[in-house]
Amino acid sequence: MQKGLTKQELKKCYDCHTTGYGKPGGFRSEAETPHLKNAGCEACHGPGSLHVKSEDASDIKGSLSVSDCQHCHNKARVGSFRYRPLIYGGGH
Ligand code: HEC
Ligand code: HEC
Ligand code: HEC
Repeated sequence: MQKGLTKQELKKCYDCHTTGYGKPGGFRSEAETPHLKNAGCEACHGPGSLHVKSEDASDIKGSLSVSDCQHCHNKARVGSFRYRPLIYGGGH
């Protein structure tokens, strides 16, 4: 779909289709941050650099709820997409 979109239009996709776009340490561009170009671990579990350093489980969000998914899987966009059961199994 990228080919048919202007740069500005494409940027509107980043919020859901990348990890941490617009947040500190998050996705900037495919060239600068290739490892964040999809919705990865931190899209659901939140920032994890502190957890990586400390190896402490309490430094990252381990227990999630549906509200953690609804930022991207919102009603307007994916009303008929039944992802909810996957909250118990992890999605991506
Ligand atoms: C509000 C969040 C959100 C935005 C903004 C968004 N998407 Fe998505 N997109 C999703 C979700 C969630 C899915 C997967 C669920 C589904 O298919 O219903 C998805 C699925 C897709 C898929 C199918 C992917 C696959 O692997 O099957 C394509 C292609 C896609 N989006 C393109 C785009 C493009 C291009 C834009 C920008 C113009 C965009 N999306 C903006 C949330 C979003
Ligand atoms: C689509 C959202 C999503 C993504 C992306 C995701 N996870 Fe998860 N993860 C979950 C959910 C949901 C659970 C179950 C949480 C619960 O039981 O409350 C979970 C549980 C976990 C747990 C167990 C946590 C605990 O305290 O028991 C670990 C560890 C984990 N994920 C690591 C990862 C890693 C590493 C990645 C990337 C490779 C990743 N996750 C990507 C949603 C996600
Ligand atoms: C940062 C945005 C974002 C968040 C947060 C998010 N998702 Fe997704 N999800 C997507 C996008 C975009 C897709 C489709 C393309 C892809 O897989 O990258 C998707 C796809 C999926 C799929 C379909 C996978 C497949 O292979 O067909 C499931 C299931 C899913 N998500 C479950 C969840 C669950 C459960 C949560 C919450 C724990 C969650 N997602 C949180 C953006 C998100």
